[in-house]
Amino acid sequence: MLLQGKVAVVTGGAQGIGRATVEALLRGHTKQVVFVDMNKVMGEECKAQLDKEFGEETSTFLQCDVSDGDALTDIFQQIVEKFGRLDIVINNAGINNEKHWEKTININLTSLIKGTYLGLEHMSKEHGKEGGTIINVSSMAAFIHSPHQPVYTATKYGVIGFTRALADASALCGYGVRINAVCPAFVDTALLKSVEHEENMGKFVQFKDDFKLSMSKFGVLQPSLIAEGMLKLIDDESLNGAVMKITHSKGIHFHSYC
Ligand SMILES: NC(=O)c1ccc[n+]([C@@H]2O[C@H](COP(=O)([O-])OP(=O)(O)OC[C@H]3O[C@@H](n4cnc5c(N)ncnc54)[C@H](O)[C@@H]3O)[C@@H](O)[C@H]2O)c1
Repeated sequence: MLLQGKVAVVTGGAQGIGRATVEALLRGHTKQVVFVDMNKVMGEECKAQLDKEFGEETSTFLQCDVSDGDALTDIFQQIVEKFGRLDIVINNAGINNEKHWEKTININLTSLIKGTYLGLEHMSKEHGKEGGTIINVSSMAAFIHSPHQPVYTATKYGVIGFTRALADASALCGYGVRINAVCPAFVDTALLKSVEHEENMGKFVQFKDDFKLSMSKFGVLQPSLIAEGMLKLIDDESLNGAVMKITHSKGIHFHSYC
């Protein structure tokens, strides 16, 4: 898919993997990149820096908590009303919180499902639209589970199952929307640092040293590599229901299901 002339939305785009993806989309000359984040200060700071590098007209920051379904619905509506179309949806917003685990399910899975359905509503040929592409952010935690993140792991398994099943439905029903998942290993972002805090990990904070050991064993990636993977998923029109893994040892590659 050519990025020129396209409109993209990235949730959790103010920092980390989301921000790197916003930058990569802008570097690829996407017509408009809307990034949604609950963190207003970080979002505005990010917008100011993007304006300097890419110009004011190319990006928009909208504050929204993706777990507020009505607010997210309104964001998608605003985007199509203002920019006339939607082509790319990246459901990236996520948290790591075992202590308030219901919140983790709400943000990492329920809101991602909502974002995917909103993407279909505004892009599917079923609704008279031109088609598009959706990327759902999972994690290598869905393949190499660990004792310190049971609920986070469950949400990331869920993202893969939902994405693959819906990708099949999209192909069968002719939605014209490709839906893929990306599974990064450890990435150098604020989320990774949350494993040190009881407020995030609850009783599983006792495993923080094991967690750090895993990081040094498996290595920590830069967000720009994950953004590169996202652009490949957008670009390769043959991919639907694909599960991209990104690891230190193998780089960008795909999980094969027999
Ligand atoms: N960092 C890693 O090691 C790693 C590995 C695999 C997958 N992931 C996944 O990548 C995604 C991005 O994580 P990251 O590492 O860049 O984290 P991050 O904490 O750096 O960034 C996440 C962004 O999402 C925003 N956000 C969180 N909850 C939100 C909500 N309810 N509504 C709107 N915005 C919200 C935050 O404000 C933040 O800007 C997440 O889904 C995460 O699970 C991260």
